[in-house]
Amino acid sequence: MKITGKFEINNIYQGDCIELLKNIAAESVDLIFADPPYNLQLNGELYRPNQTKVDAVSDEWDKFESKEKYDEFSNSWLKECYRVLKKSGSFWVIGTYHNIFRVGSIMQNVGFWILNDIIWIKTNPMPNFKGTRFNNAHETLIWATKSAKSCYTFHYHAMKAMNDDLQMRSDWFIPICHGKERIKINGKKAHSIQKPAELLYRIMISTSNLDDLVLDPFMGSGTTAAVAKRLGRNFIGFEKEKTYIDVANSMLKKIVSIKKELLLYKIENPKPKVAFGNLIEKGYVKIGEKLYSEKKDKEAVVQADVSIESENEIGSIHKISAKILNKESNNGWDFWYVLRNNELISIDSLRYAYKRDFSNKSKADQGSAN
Ligand SMILES: C[S@@+](CC[C@H](N)C(=O)[O-])C[C@H]1O[C@@H](n2cnc3c(N)ncnc32)[C@H](O)[C@@H]1O
Repeated sequence: MKITGKFEINNIYQGDCIELLKNIAAESVDLIFADPPYNLQLNGELYRPNQTKVDAVSDEWDKFESKEKYDEFSNSWLKECYRVLKKSGSFWVIGTYHNIFRVGSIMQNVGFWILNDIIWIKTNPMPNFKGTRFNNAHETLIWATKSAKSCYTFHYHAMKAMNDDLQMRSDWFIPICHGKERIKINGKKAHSIQKPAELLYRIMISTSNLDDLVLDPFMGSGTTAAVAKRLGRNFIGFEKEKTYIDVANSMLKKIVSIKKELLLYKIENPKPKVAFGNLIEKGYVKIGEKLYSEKKDKEAVVQADVSIESENEIGSIHKISAKILNKESNNGWDFWYVLRNNELISIDSLRYAYKRDFSNKSKADQGSAN
């Protein structure tokens, strides 16, 4: 799928994001996650008490001549992000005390409407080796939309379930990227600030949907792309340094997408009001097709009148499943499956697909009428 004449989705492009963003169509992106340079302004090397050197962020991409130059840079990429974000989209940016207040202020000047700031509390932060300040154990995320009136996605119930049935709070306790997750080349970190996948998982699960387009203008080692691929979202990424893109692409090859059926936010919605007949009318289930029980030991054939036939019994999906189970009644939606690409897919999940496809279509129809 192309989002402009220039970019294919599910790719990372090399270059300056400010220039590359200009080639993306206005209001085409559902979610933006940006992890921009921090402008740390480190003076000299940092050593631990045992005189070993601290692996701090001293990369060229993090250096700016002055605060004014950093602000100019922030203003340029934020304006482009504002332009490409859909009216219903979510914008996320992460930073430390070095940059987040400047970025937050410019964001508001550009037009963004702030919904929350989230404190990412690092459960395993790097100590303050000199003992001259508090241990800097968090980063700040800002979640914003294009305006106060934006109709944005927020999976409230999913977040609540993730937090043991208590409202998800704005303090997130997540370890920094470590252990097996940390990508290394010859024993050295492949990227000095690889973000933990858990952080992006929470952002995408809470504020985007299956098949949405996620943009990361500062892709680094590819965390955003990897989580998007895993969660059935599409992505597009920009990154200045080729070496990081290579790291990201080789990591991406190993990421396996979660089955769509498991990504449907059933907790957010009551069962969709879609009848079995609707699925047949729109071709999600075909007349003459076989339905199977979960263990594939029972079969039924779909009839043109929307009934199903199994072992010479005719009835609805519910009646026939009840008969098979020797029960008075049964919910056929939970009993029957169809075969798709040699895999059993529950007919219940087809109702969610139907609802998603047709509510997207009606949104698109409304858009084209405007
Ligand atoms: C803080 S890091 C992002 C790390 C990333 N979130 C990850 O998990 O690996 C910022 C990245 O932005 C890149 N970068 C800096 N300026 C850029 C620009 N103008 N356009 C595109 N990428 C840029 C840097 O090379 C660096 O990899």
